[in-house]
Formats: sequence, structure tokens, C-alpha cells
Amino acid sequence: MKNKKNITYNNKKLKVLVTGGAGFIGSCLVRKLLKETEVKVFNLDKLSYSSDHTSIDSLIKDLNLKKSNRYELLKIDLVSYCKTNEIIEYTDPDLIFHLAAESHVDRSIDNPKNFVENNILGTLNLLESVKKHFQKLSTLRKDSFRLINISTDEVFGSLGSNGFFNEESQYNPKSPYSASKASCDHLVNAWFHTFGVPIITTNCSNNFGPWQFPEKLIPLTILKAINNEPIPIYGNGKNIRDWLFVEDHINALLKLSLKGEIGEKYCIGGFKEKTNLEIVESICSILDKLKPRDTSYKNLIKFVADRPGHDFRYAVDSKKISKDISWEIETEFLDSLNRTVDWYVKNQKWCDQTLQKANYYGERIGLS
Ligand code: NAD
Ligand code: DAU
Repeated sequence: MKNKKNITYNNKKLKVLVTGGAGFIGSCLVRKLLKETEVKVFNLDKLSYSSDHTSIDSLIKDLNLKKSNRYELLKIDLVSYCKTNEIIEYTDPDLIFHLAAESHVDRSIDNPKNFVENNILGTLNLLESVKKHFQKLSTLRKDSFRLINISTDEVFGSLGSNGFFNEESQYNPKSPYSASKASCDHLVNAWFHTFGVPIITTNCSNNFGPWQFPEKLIPLTILKAINNEPIPIYGNGKNIRDWLFVEDHINALLKLSLKGEIGEKYCIGGFKEKTNLEIVESICSILDKLKPRDTSYKNLIKFVADRPGHDFRYAVDSKKISKDISWEIETEFLDSLNRTVDWYVKNQKWCDQTLQKANYYGERIGLS
């Protein structure tokens, strides 16, 4: 993997607000901002079941940042307009990355209202607060202010065997999660056109990497395998996802915050389509070498009832972002998958604590 520092914010006093900064992708962004820039970072998160702050805590310790005043965690729920508004006034941001959302499709099927409240109402409250904040900024700060709305490829629905999603794709969400994210994109778009808030939207494919809450396919498979439990594959395992290592996604977001065009949207993908069965079998093969047992981990695979409304295929054409801002994938898929499996094997204590804290087995017992 190339390890280059390619982000330079000219204004070192820049105040950056990350919503959902204690989640999987948000915390990776916060770590990168702390490690590779000099900006001040505010992390707004309601701290829910999927949040984790240990990776940021240990970085702050390593970098000796405790007393530097460069980082602040703000436990705020965007569902409260008053609190959101107060915190926007308090942080007075120059740049916002909006990642806060309920993110798991299966949970949206169990409890759609939670997704409408957190994702749609949460985004509305953020936009209303940001609108007020933006209107009060000096012309100079207005010119450089950006809100980056981090959305998903799922808003476009499901593909057949051919074709790709791109910036021209029609919105056609199929799950309560993707419908809530599509609503956020529409709201964001409206606040740009009607109120002039400078916004950029990204639609990204499936991320993977260390520190992901172990309910998503890749970390769940690793944990089930090393605990010698059945690995659940929904339906026939032929559904396809387009995988991207989380650090490549973060590089795209940072580059867009500097070079992206206001009002535009950018599709981000890994050009790495795999069926779910292929992904699970690859993880099993890695584990067969890393942690050999009597028989292959593949014997643990169990086909289970399909996800209702299960989207068949996602595949993202990221040519626009590559061409317009020279973003490129810097990691190699199998290396990153190996790195991810290795991380989960070495961090089982973190997984146990994270799952226990989230009362995961109590809540979604159907999976085990
Ligand atoms: P995650 O579940 O790991 O983290 C989401 C974070 O948002 C959590 O820490 C949670 O506490 C916080 N949050 C949720 N509702 C909130 C609210 N009302 N107020 C404040 N904080 C709140 O999710 P993730 O995988 O890191 O995804 C982050 C964002 O990226 C989401 O918007 C998701 O839709 C989007 N996205 C994810 C992927 C992926 O593959 N994981 C791909 C494309 C886009
Ligand atoms: O495409 C981007 C989206 O990717 C993000 O917007 C979402 O936040 C993120 O959760 C992810 O959604 P998916 O539904 O694609 O991810 P998940 O890991 O839940 O599932 C990946 C595929 O694996 C999907 O086809 C369902 C399947 N699956 C999932 C689980 C948890 C299984 O077969 N078995 C499982 O146990």
C-alpha cells in the first residue's frame, strides 16, 4: 500500500466537524485528519451501538494530542434540533463531513422508524442549523465552506447482471435504509438549490476494513468462523457487492473537500465486484492459512433465509471522481482483505467487548 500524505489544508486553523465520527467510516476519517493534517476536529456522534472511540483514544495517546486542543468529542443526537443548532454555533465549522446515520439494512427492516428519525430528521436538523450558520459567515469563509454528504450506492436500487451505477443513475431505493438515505440526498440537494448551502454528495459502495461493527458481512464472517459457528449466507450467495477498502474511501472524501465541485455528486466504488459466496470463501481461505483447523472454514458456511427485498447487485463506475479530482484506489483488494482478517483475529477482545456493549446477541439473536 502506498503511504503518502496527499491532503494539505492551507488554513491550518480550519475547524472540521465530522458527524458520525465514532462509527466505522467516520472514525477512520477522524484518525486520518488527526494524523495527517493540522486542523481542529469536532466529532459529533450520539454514540450508539455501532460507535467505538477506542481507535481514536489510542491515536490521541500515541500522538500525545490530549492537551493540544485539536480534538473534541461531542455526544449529540441530530434528532434534537436545539442541541444540533447549539453545537453548530459552538463549533463554528468551516467544513462538515456528514456521516451520522443508522447504517445496517437488516436493522432498517426490523425498525424502519428508527431510520426515518435518525437519517431523515437528523439530516434535516443538521441542514437547518448549517443554513443559519452559513448565512452568518464572512464572504471569505462562505467561499471555502463545504458540507460533504456521505451517501450510498444503495439509493440507486439494484442492478441486473450488467451495467454500473453512475452520477446519472435514477434514484430507486428498495430498503427502508436506502430510502432514508435517498431522502437525505434529496434534502441536501434542496438546501443547495434553495438556500445556497455549498454541498457535495458522494455515493459509495460497500466499505470494509478494521474497526467495523461486526454485524456487516465481512467482520461477521470472520468472527463466526473463528468462533466455530455457522457462517450465514442469505439466499443462494449469488448477490453481488462492489468492495472498497475504507481508507480509499477516506482519501476520496478528503480530496473532494479540497477539489470537489459544489452542487455535484460523485460515485465512489472499488471496481471489485464479488458474490457474497466468493467473499465468504476468500475469508475462509485466508483463515485456513492464518489459523488452520482440522477442516476448512468453508465447512461452516450455511445458506439461510434471504433478506427481504435483497438487492441483487451493486457496481459503481467511479470514472468521474478519478477524472475530475485524480482520485485513485491506492490499495490492493486481497492485501486489504488479508489485513482486515488479520486485524479481527488479533482483536477478538475488542470484538467481544464491542458486541457485549451493544447487547448484540440479545438484539439480533436470529443471526446466530
Ligand atoms: P456506522 O453505523 O459504523 O456509524 C454511524 C455512526 O453514526 C455511529 O457512530 C452512530 O452513533 C452515528 N449516528 C447515527 N445516528 C445519529 C444521530 N441521529 N446523531 C448523531 N450520530 C448518529 O456506519 P458507517 O458504516 O461508518 O457509515 C457511515 C456513513 O457512510 C453512513 O451515512 C452510511 O450510510 C454511509 N455509507 C456506508 C457504507 C458502508 O459500506 N459502511 C458505504 C457507503 C456509505
Ligand atoms: O453499498 C453500500 C452499503 O453497504 C452501505 O450503504 C451500508 O451502510 C452497508 O451496511 C452496506 O450494505 P449491505 O447490505 O450491502 O451490507 P451487509 O454487510 O449487511 O451485506 C452485504 C451482503 O451480504 C448483502 O448482499 C447481504 C449479505 N449478507 C449479509 C449478512 C450480514 C449475508 O449473506 N449474510 C449476512 O449475515
